Amino acid sequence: MWLVRFLMSSIGKKLVMATTGLLLVLFLFTHAAGNATIFMSSDVFQSYADELHSHPLIVIIFSLSILLIVFAHIGVGLFLFYENRQVAKSRYAVSTRVVKNSFASETMPYTGLVILAFLFVHIFGFTFSSEDVNISVTVKELLSNFFYALFYIVAFLALAIHLSHGFWSMLQTFGISHPRYDILLARLTIAVPVFFFVIFGGVAFYFMTGLGSSF
Ligand code: HEM
Repeated sequence: MWLVRFLMSSIGKKLVMATTGLLLVLFLFTHAAGNATIFMSSDVFQSYADELHSHPLIVIIFSLSILLIVFAHIGVGLFLFYENRQVAKSRYAVSTRVVKNSFASETMPYTGLVILAFLFVHIFGFTFSSEDVNISVTVKELLSNFFYALFYIVAFLALAIHLSHGFWSMLQTFGISHPRYDILLARLTIAVPVFFFVIFGGVAFYFMTGLGSSF
């Protein structure tokens, strides 16, 4: 089928990565906004979570879509990684890549793996937590554990590094570039990862250090 053939082509795979990456960044913005209510009070955070769960159908559709998007992003990402390695091994390989941030780009599969490990721990800890306990209590309890919170902060650092290349790469794939806006776009590729690190890392730091002891 033409769609499968297109998706398996080089540009098709890049488009899948860019589109799923963009959707995941949009998810992260909504998640960061929800989590930021933690800094207000446990009541505000709890009512946000309760409001969300008062629409079970939307939650299920949303969760399944996120799962599908994550699988597509990882699957095609691994495929591209494997392909690039084959090309690099080939004696015809010519180094023509112009890479903006080589550390972040070289470590994409590894930072991706750290994020995946984080997602397992995170979803088992939070999404599948006991329904008898308020989610605000679970968040405080888990993140007040120094090593649990430290693992989160390390994962958020990996996320920031991953995004610093991923966001730039997505803009390239979508052809978003213009001499007049390139400086703004370059700043965005730094601002977006830093924003997520500050919000998510801030929540972990808040409980880890005891700042949120009255939460
Ligand atoms: C300290 C930072 C974070 C906190 C406090 C937090 C909190 C939560 C909570 C409470 C839930 C469960 C929601 C519910 O079912 O009631 C959740 C789900 C989830 N979180 Fe986070 N989160 C954080 C960071 C992140 C990050 C950085 C990512 C992605 C890299 C992420 C990805 C997810 C996903 C995929 C789900 C499941 C969503 C769903 O199935 O609808 N979280 N998070």
